[in-house]
Amino acid sequence: MDQRKMHGMWGSRWTFILAATGSAVGLGNIWKFPYIAGENGGGAFVLVYLVCIALVGIPVMMAEVLIGRRGRMSPINAMRYVTREAGLHSGWTSIGWMGVLAGLMIMAFYSVVAGWALNYVVEAGSGAFNGTSGEIAGGAFGEFLQDKSKLTLWHSLFSVMTLVVVAAGVTRGLGMVARVLMPFLFVVLILLLAYGFKNGDFGAAFNFLFDFKFDKLTWGGVLVALGHAFFTLSLGMGAIMAYGAYMPGHASLGRTIITVGLLDTLVALIAGMAIFPIVFGTPGLEAGAGPGLMFVSLPVAFGNMAAGQLFGTLFFVLVAVAAWSSAVSLIEPGVAWLVESKKFNRITATTALTLLAWLGGMGCIWSNNWLEDKPAGVYVFESLDFLTSQIMLPLGGLFIAIFVGWLMRRAIVCSEMDAEGHPLFDIWLFVVRYVSPILIAIVMILSLYNKFVA
Ligand code: TRP
Repeated sequence: MDQRKMHGMWGSRWTFILAATGSAVGLGNIWKFPYIAGENGGGAFVLVYLVCIALVGIPVMMAEVLIGRRGRMSPINAMRYVTREAGLHSGWTSIGWMGVLAGLMIMAFYSVVAGWALNYVVEAGSGAFNGTSGEIAGGAFGEFLQDKSKLTLWHSLFSVMTLVVVAAGVTRGLGMVARVLMPFLFVVLILLLAYGFKNGDFGAAFNFLFDFKFDKLTWGGVLVALGHAFFTLSLGMGAIMAYGAYMPGHASLGRTIITVGLLDTLVALIAGMAIFPIVFGTPGLEAGAGPGLMFVSLPVAFGNMAAGQLFGTLFFVLVAVAAWSSAVSLIEPGVAWLVESKKFNRITATTALTLLAWLGGMGCIWSNNWLEDKPAGVYVFESLDFLTSQIMLPLGGLFIAIFVGWLMRRAIVCSEMDAEGHPLFDIWLFVVRYVSPILIAIVMILSLYNKFVA
């Protein structure tokens, strides 16, 4: 069983924090969070999302990393290791399998949206946004979405970028890039925030995001919020488990994960507070605009601020980099497994899995998604997003919480947490045993019941 040493290892606790933050901070924070908050009425949704991060996301993230660090292998084999160690039925390994599948499904649509960001690097760079209005920006985005060859080109380019990094091994390479560029992303977001404060409707945005009007929130919205807590923390499919496998033995898991969770949440809130003042301050834009929200609102800001061409280009480059460092963690679990257990070489494994995800992305592009008034039906993009964020990730999280909370030996859990005698340990264990699983179960049952039965 000692493949447990075959992968690389992060140099230190900080390298793990940076890599995990690189995985967590991505399109989920900058693109998805603002638009789903907009679609679900704002304030109450944001509050539920924050509660989900605190009571489910961060505690379950600790549990998932703990399994990875204990197993020291790809999620499938790490699950097999801890399952044997606990003397349980091998069916528990399916958490790892479901994770590999979910990763590829997410990568399929993730890569398409990352492609939008790449296209917008060029648009911003060529000055296409200069002086633009809400209407023009909306029209341009709508046209872009109908241009299937352009969508294919950028989606393919992003797939290849991801392939290159994963093939080279995630413990080197990209870490450097992300480490240098992430702080810049933060700086440009703050700049956008300042622009919105000065030129947008900051008050309306603030009220929209933090005024808790519960009548606007549906059960469906609550499940979206829970699902997004998983999505944004890269949780529930083994990505963060795979990263945990490369974590050095003695590093306080609790503090580390809390740092990652807080950084991730901060970026999402700042992105929201950067985008909504522009949305409310610009005629022709609305909060519920859907997946295009960021791509129609930010061009207005960049098109009308000083040095907007430069900052706009920089911004979309940084979004693409953030997406890049997230995407590698979507492919990594499957690749690590093929290398360990099926004796694939890393390049073949990465190519095979990236190709699968790429095909899924082509499905998103070709099944006329994103039309203004599309005929009723099942669309690949929406279906992949729904199945992963709202079903597979929460289920994965539920099983991980049950596994660590109820089935692993307490002594092992305690020693992997490096929390001997720490007062917070018991509180965390209580949350993982009772609070997180019960919350996940209730939210899933009620919202799915409302969606499909009632
Ligand atoms: N967390 C990333 C984001 O917010 C996306 C992501 C990367 C992800 N790896 C994941 C989501 C694993 C779910 C599971 O953009």
